[in-house]
Amino acid sequence: MSISIPAVPLLSARGLTRRYNGRGGCAGVDIDIYPGEVLCIVGESGSGKSTLLNALALRTPANEGTLTYRTAEHELLDLVTLPMPRRRKLARTDWGFVHQNARDGLRHGVSAGANIGEPLMANGARHYGKLRETASDWMSQVELDAARIDELPAAFSGGMQQRLQIARNLVTRPRLVFMDEPTAGLDVSVQARLLDLLRTLTGKLHLAALIVTHDIGVARLLAHRLIVMKDGRVVESGLTDQVLDDPQHPYTQTLVASVLPA
Ligand SMILES: Nc1ncnc2c1ncn2[C@@H]1O[C@H](COP(=O)(O)OP(=O)(O)OP(=O)(O)O)[C@@H](O)[C@H]1O
Ligand SMILES: [Mg+2]
Repeated sequence: MSISIPAVPLLSARGLTRRYNGRGGCAGVDIDIYPGEVLCIVGESGSGKSTLLNALALRTPANEGTLTYRTAEHELLDLVTLPMPRRRKLARTDWGFVHQNARDGLRHGVSAGANIGEPLMANGARHYGKLRETASDWMSQVELDAARIDELPAAFSGGMQQRLQIARNLVTRPRLVFMDEPTAGLDVSVQARLLDLLRTLTGKLHLAALIVTHDIGVARLLAHRLIVMKDGRVVESGLTDQVLDDPQHPYTQTLVASVLPA
């Protein structure tokens, strides 16, 4: 998979550290994500992937390090000192966050259509007919039956709920979307279909995506670039094919070898 990477990153972290009472979490992470790029964070359970993702998405405070974001207007924002109202606006307009569990990323008391329409309303949209039309269009884009627009999330299967969550996140046309294990916990065939969809949508929308996965297969399919974490630190990073076909760090070698057929 090749991509020409523009020179200016969207999001940049240097020395990003988030510890829990001085332990665990992630430490000293340098990362850049470029417009339109899919970057996967891989590593075993407890290696600090979710902590890093949450620190980058301002969902958990960093203890140390710098974090900057380049807006569509080419303004360079210092996210560490950015006032809360601007942070919230950024999360609402420029970013998406897809949880591993659709339970955490959907509102269960309202319909599928409302789940998609709400983020638009939060950004000022008011025209009911247009909201409904957009919600219906997004249901089709994520391969859900638009005729089910008035049903509650609970009426949909796990894989469908995940696609609904993706629609809810992409409807505002974010420039950057964070995803924590978006396909974990789904049946293999359902996973494959969701991965295909993610690949299509990120390409079509020129979306930058930061995707946490413990699954090398997911990373191989989706990522332009990879970073490999172990014990809270980045041990290796590079183009996906390069890292997976010729891993340099012993840990990455083990990780890659463990998924090859015997
Ligand atoms: N809220 C917390 N309080 C204390 N320690 C935490 C907390 N969250 C994570 N940790 C610790 O930080 C380390 C990294 O955890 P994290 O959840 O970021 O890893 P992960 O790579 O996402 O793991 P998994 O693949 O299991 O989701 C682990 O040692 C974990 O126990
Ligand atoms: Mg995690």
